[in-house]
Amino acid sequence: MTNISLKIENIAELITVAGPDEKRCGKAQGEIERIMDAIVLVEGEKIVYAGSVKEAPKYELNADATVIDATGKTVTPGLIDSHTHLVHGGSRENELNKKLHGASYLDILRAGGGIMYTLKKTKEMSEDELYNQALKSVDRLMSYGVTTVEAKTGYGIDSIETEFKQLNVADRIDKNHPIDVIHTFMGAHAVPEEYKENPAKFIDIIIEEYLPRFAEDGRVKFCDVFCEDSVFNAEDSKRLLLAAKEHGLIPKIHADEIAEIGGTKVAGEVGAISAEHLIKCTEEGIAHLKSGDVIANLLPGTSFNMGDHIFAPARAMIENGVAVAISTDYNPGSCPTENIQLCMYLACLNMKMTPEEVLVGVTINAAAALGLEKEKGSLMPGKRADIAIFDAPNLDYILYHFGINHTDKVIKDGKLVYEAV
Ligand code: NIG
Ligand code: FE
Repeated sequence: MTNISLKIENIAELITVAGPDEKRCGKAQGEIERIMDAIVLVEGEKIVYAGSVKEAPKYELNADATVIDATGKTVTPGLIDSHTHLVHGGSRENELNKKLHGASYLDILRAGGGIMYTLKKTKEMSEDELYNQALKSVDRLMSYGVTTVEAKTGYGIDSIETEFKQLNVADRIDKNHPIDVIHTFMGAHAVPEEYKENPAKFIDIIIEEYLPRFAEDGRVKFCDVFCEDSVFNAEDSKRLLLAAKEHGLIPKIHADEIAEIGGTKVAGEVGAISAEHLIKCTEEGIAHLKSGDVIANLLPGTSFNMGDHIFAPARAMIENGVAVAISTDYNPGSCPTENIQLCMYLACLNMKMTPEEVLVGVTINAAAALGLEKEKGSLMPGKRADIAIFDAPNLDYILYHFGINHTDKVIKDGKLVYEAV
């Protein structure tokens, strides 16, 4: 084996998440191997070997190969954040005091704050200003070990131009930053003021005017909708997602975040690739996800930041064979953090997922939630060399020593793109 361009050696614990290039459900979500005294070999942008030193094939390094010493460190696939609202204008620290005085997320939204406030800010800011703000966030995401991020539109809802402005910013980041950005159209993220009494009419407009434009543009892969009390009901969400499918977009749905209003049933009926949040998901909801083969994309940072100590029933989902992904939901309101390691900790401690289940949730299952499981999400020969190296002796340590950043280095497409100082 010649032409090795990057080698990671002396790895204390390597977790390749090896196995089929598909989402891991039930027991399989927790069945991943930890390999001690391991190496990873990369040729160009692809993995050629990841495993124990003893079983490594013979290889020769390129003259200019990068060699990384991972003594005492843990190596995993690059983390995948499969749910964010990355591009947005401004911030919402002005809600903190209201929250402390008992205002709920929906109280603030109904009073014209929340998403409505961010809509205004996103509209006001130029593409360059939004780009600079979002760039800081992707830098932070990468510093936590993330190599691929999903980004939704949805803060420009009442104007196609602002929705496109958000998409253009996310696309510029994809092209100019090492992180890969996967695009989701979420025009149905809130109900504009003038349609407050008739959200169905706004869904008609999205179907007739927005969807054809975004589908034709070609950059967006998914369509998402906020199926929620005081936002879009199940019937309208279903109509939108079926229309999106006709345009070649893959459905996703924010379901059961605050109230259970039938989002999981819609997810199953439209063949959504994933349903998001699911904090209030019932047994019946879990059955819909299972029968519809829908990934449960859980966002424990949001539960934590809502402050009511209610987390999605991850254990029941895994025990019923539903594949679980974990993401940040990074956004200016319900979850203003890029710290995916904190979200992993919350999944472990508050949703009782094992460290193995959590890691699968941010690697192969997150890749599957973005339709990328064939090229990303595990360190196997032929897959992309997207790799995270943590300054921690093992996976459990990362989830135990919480609230700090354990990342030592990040490799994207075979190149060192981040190093802790
Ligand atoms: O996933 N729920 C809808 N969207 C985001 C919140 C967006 C915001 O508050 O700005 C979420 O939680
Ligand atoms: Fe969200």
